[in-house]
Amino acid sequence: MRIGIPRESKTGESRVAGSPKTVTQLIKLGYSVCVESRAGVKASLPDQDYAEAGAEIVSTEEAWAADVVTKINAPTDEEIAKMRSGAVLISMADAPRSPELLEKLAKKGITTLAMDSVPRISRAQSLDVISSMANIGGYRAVIEAGHEFGSFFTGQVTAAGKVPPAKVFVSGAGVSGLAAIGCARSLGAIVFATDIRAETAEQVESMGATFVAVESGDQQQSSDGYAKEATEDYAAAAARMYAEQVKDMDIVITTAQIPGRQAPRLLTEEMVATMKPGSVIVDMAASSGGNVAGSLPDEIVVTPGGVKIIGYTDLPGRLPTQASQMFATNVLNLMKLLTPGKDGQLTIDTEDVVQRGMLVVQDGQVTWPPPQVSVSAAQAATAPEAKAAEPTEKKPLDPRPLYVGAGLVAALALVLFFVSPHELLGHFMVLMLSVVIGFYVIGNVAHSLHTPLMSVTNAISGIIIVGCLAGLQLVDPAKLAEPASIVILVLSVVGILLASINVFGGFTVTQRMLNMFRKGPK
Ligand code: NAI
Repeated sequence: MRIGIPRESKTGESRVAGSPKTVTQLIKLGYSVCVESRAGVKASLPDQDYAEAGAEIVSTEEAWAADVVTKINAPTDEEIAKMRSGAVLISMADAPRSPELLEKLAKKGITTLAMDSVPRISRAQSLDVISSMANIGGYRAVIEAGHEFGSFFTGQVTAAGKVPPAKVFVSGAGVSGLAAIGCARSLGAIVFATDIRAETAEQVESMGATFVAVESGDQQQSSDGYAKEATEDYAAAAARMYAEQVKDMDIVITTAQIPGRQAPRLLTEEMVATMKPGSVIVDMAASSGGNVAGSLPDEIVVTPGGVKIIGYTDLPGRLPTQASQMFATNVLNLMKLLTPGKDGQLTIDTEDVVQRGMLVVQDGQVTWPPPQVSVSAAQAATAPEAKAAEPTEKKPLDPRPLYVGAGLVAALALVLFFVSPHELLGHFMVLMLSVVIGFYVIGNVAHSLHTPLMSVTNAISGIIIVGCLAGLQLVDPAKLAEPASIVILVLSVVGILLASINVFGGFTVTQRMLNMFRKGPK
């Protein structure tokens, strides 16, 4: 089959849905690829690079006439008219808000896979353009804020005086919020963040920011990675928290969203008015109603108090090369999934939750919305019956083997109790208690600290080295050739070797891990 990559027609769009690198990979999957002339120019991807990768450079009409068309934005009516009936379209479609578009595509018989409808499950992360674009958006939000902000991010002590670090507040710790935290932290700012979902606190802290909790009993635990609308109690407590926090901040980045809804209003005009002149707010949700009073899509509004509110809606497009490469890789990963035979033949498996989730039009029928998929590390507070009805990725674990295992261990302990000498029983009890205490101690250590903890516990095996050295003392140098001496020697040397690997290997791994977080030369 032939894949077409047309030039984006939307005003201001700088991205392209394929890169020379992904063209090579698509050809390896058995497809032929054609790219509209100058499709990648705004993303610094010239025609020549695509041609060298094996693509044919073609006219607009030819690109749209391909069997599979991959692009960034949903097609216009004129573009749909250029497509063949029976072709496959892979692009963003904004399915919840575009019933008319889906009808038009169905009428033309164009099977459509919406890149912005990828279910949020771990297996589908490699195709999730919403996440990859939000990641870039969060990063760029900080860069835009820095561009408008009149001072350093990082604190400095200079001959001309001391500069305190900038204080950044990020609201909403989803994909873009975490990217914004990462970028602001790496620039040296002190970062605070909040989210309605309680499970984000650990992620925020692991990025080096301080989580600011809202004092409300209605903080959510989500079952699908997305938030639900805040209760009145939560909104009131959040308003008190924002009023308290933002007046001290230099930069505020808001990313709060609830899928399919108007963006929640977080900052009121009064709160913005309490911020210092020169402070900057980036409202990433400006296109869906705005998290901040007074923000306008695609504009920078300067309040009477001198606070700048940035409402850009094209943040990923402001990094066109990176955004194109990531979008193209997401498309490539989808094509790998759709081409199991690597034979250049696209096949859609509607039993697969990922493919079904993205399939919005098939065989002249609108197939959106797909059945719901439940995803999250956090436990959903739904009734068990409701949970059983949801199509989930994993079947619940059968607890029976666990019970059988526990029964066997208990039986073994009982047998040991009766047959073992008295001293052994004491040691056995100590072992059992250590297991229980160890389980609770390690269970309460943050995941990020497991490697250092392991290396310290590994070091306990240093006692084996002491034992082996003591064993070596038993060997009489005059009787080195005797079998007993040889056994002691061999066992001691092997013991020292293995225990040393355990001790020094553990510390080496920890050292390498810590180096990853160290700034400057390692
Ligand atoms: P996400 O769903 O990963 O993150 C949103 C976060 O907001 C979630 O963690 C959610 O729990 C949180 N949230 C919801 N209601 C909240 C509330 N009342 N208070 C505090 N937190 C709340 O979404 P993602 O992908 O990070 O996108 C965030 C926003 O950025 C969306 O509105 C998206 O459309 C927008 N966006 C804008 C871009 C631009 O160019 N301006 C580019 C990319 C994304």
